[in-house]
Amino acid sequence: MSDRYQGFVQSPLGKLFVKNLGLPNPVELDRWTEGAPLVTGTVLVGGAGRLADRLPVVLKDLGIETAAAATEGARFKGLVFDATGITSTDQLIQLQEFFTPVMRSLESCSRIVVLGTTPTAAASAEERVAQRALEGFTRSLGKEIGRGGTSQLVYVTPGADDALASTLAFFLSPKSAYVSGQVVRIGAVGGKKAGEVADWDKPLTGKIALVTGASRGIGEQIARVLHRDGATVVGVDVPQAASELQSVMKELDGDYLTLDITAKDAPQRIAHELKTRHGGVDIVVHNAGITRDKKLANMAEDRWASVIAVNLTAPERITRELLDQKVINDNGRIIGVASIAGIAGNVGQTNYAASKAGVIGLVDSLAGELKKGVTINAVAPGFIETKMTAAVPFATREVGRRLNSMSQGGLPVDVAETIAWFASPASTAVNGNVVRVCGQMMLGA
Ligand SMILES: NC(=O)c1ccc[n+]([C@@H]2O[C@H](COP(=O)([O-])OP(=O)(O)OC[C@H]3O[C@@H](n4cnc5c(N)ncnc54)[C@H](O)[C@@H]3O)[C@@H](O)[C@H]2O)c1
Repeated sequence: MSDRYQGFVQSPLGKLFVKNLGLPNPVELDRWTEGAPLVTGTVLVGGAGRLADRLPVVLKDLGIETAAAATEGARFKGLVFDATGITSTDQLIQLQEFFTPVMRSLESCSRIVVLGTTPTAAASAEERVAQRALEGFTRSLGKEIGRGGTSQLVYVTPGADDALASTLAFFLSPKSAYVSGQVVRIGAVGGKKAGEVADWDKPLTGKIALVTGASRGIGEQIARVLHRDGATVVGVDVPQAASELQSVMKELDGDYLTLDITAKDAPQRIAHELKTRHGGVDIVVHNAGITRDKKLANMAEDRWASVIAVNLTAPERITRELLDQKVINDNGRIIGVASIAGIAGNVGQTNYAASKAGVIGLVDSLAGELKKGVTINAVAPGFIETKMTAAVPFATREVGRRLNSMSQGGLPVDVAETIAWFASPASTAVNGNVVRVCGQMMLGA
């Protein structure tokens, strides 16, 4: 839906109001279009950790132009700092030394990525403290940078140093338009190679992707982006949405299955369909979800039960069935759709927040036990412009839209791009993460 305030602030009168009253100033965010380079501009690379030699090579392979030093008058679309060399707190000054001189040389919608060592994998207590400090730094930078810029911290476990490409491609490009202030962990892949991508324009070629709730909203966009990246999509939705689902899947040359995911036999039917028609599945996206908001004092049993059943129990049962029946192929991807309500809580959403926190629990419980390169991660969207959020009362909607570092709502495509990053064959080392797609919303830090 349209954001009239964002339109107004671009007008001459709006600009005057924003300047004089200190009002939120949402800029139009860069978003990636098919065929465009990942980064339009130069990325300055700094820091002297164990990744320093590797970084320019990885970025060059991705077609990203880099610079090793800031020359007079140079402008940057991105800054990447290898902080893995910081092993004690006195060395944190390196952050100030690198960033302060170039903060005014950033273009709009710029990207900052700090690479650190996963604190629990640090070699000493001093290093662990210093590495943990990076979180406060990158999150604050996300709130300071402005003009649609983003800032992230990527913790790399020693042993996973070769597995950075898909994560850098995502966080440096406009694909991560509405993701900021996030801390991501890249782990060692346990003997499994990081996963190669032959064609970065079509990284999902030959992959089968199951997307629940694919007939509209965020699910439809997920199906479109996975298809754009080369996957064959199998969309699932309720029988009432059959004709919409059919037309989306026809357009994407995909397949579809109409069923209620809470039905007793739904996991078996999905497993059977994927096995017999597609020989298995590579990407499973649990997107279908509902809200039935009421304060707990007024919560009827069916409101509680239906939300838990659709949002949590169904993804849990389907995942277990697909794993038990070995329908998920090696290097497979399981992706949950949580919500920031599941992290911060929300008035009137005890049922919904419980279900979405449970989705994060599913990630936590399975991440350590999956084998053969299979990963599980989740997105936690914030305020995304959909029919669901258009129905929210005006004042609440305005608060939801503005209370984030971008001062605007995200788009379904922002959630879909994040899922496509998790889904990439090169993301085998990205496991057990919950990434908020919320423009760094103030709620729930
Ligand atoms: N829109 C937002 O701002 C926002 C924020 C946070 C999280 N989310 C989550 O993102 C996901 C998609 O949200 P959306 O805004 O696109 O919602 P939506 O209502 O537009 O779409 C949800 C889809 O799921 C399908 N579905 C519902 N129950 C089902 C069932 N039992 N079996 C099969 N399909 C079923 C619906 O028919 C619909 O097509 C949900 O999980 C939602 O909780 C959305």
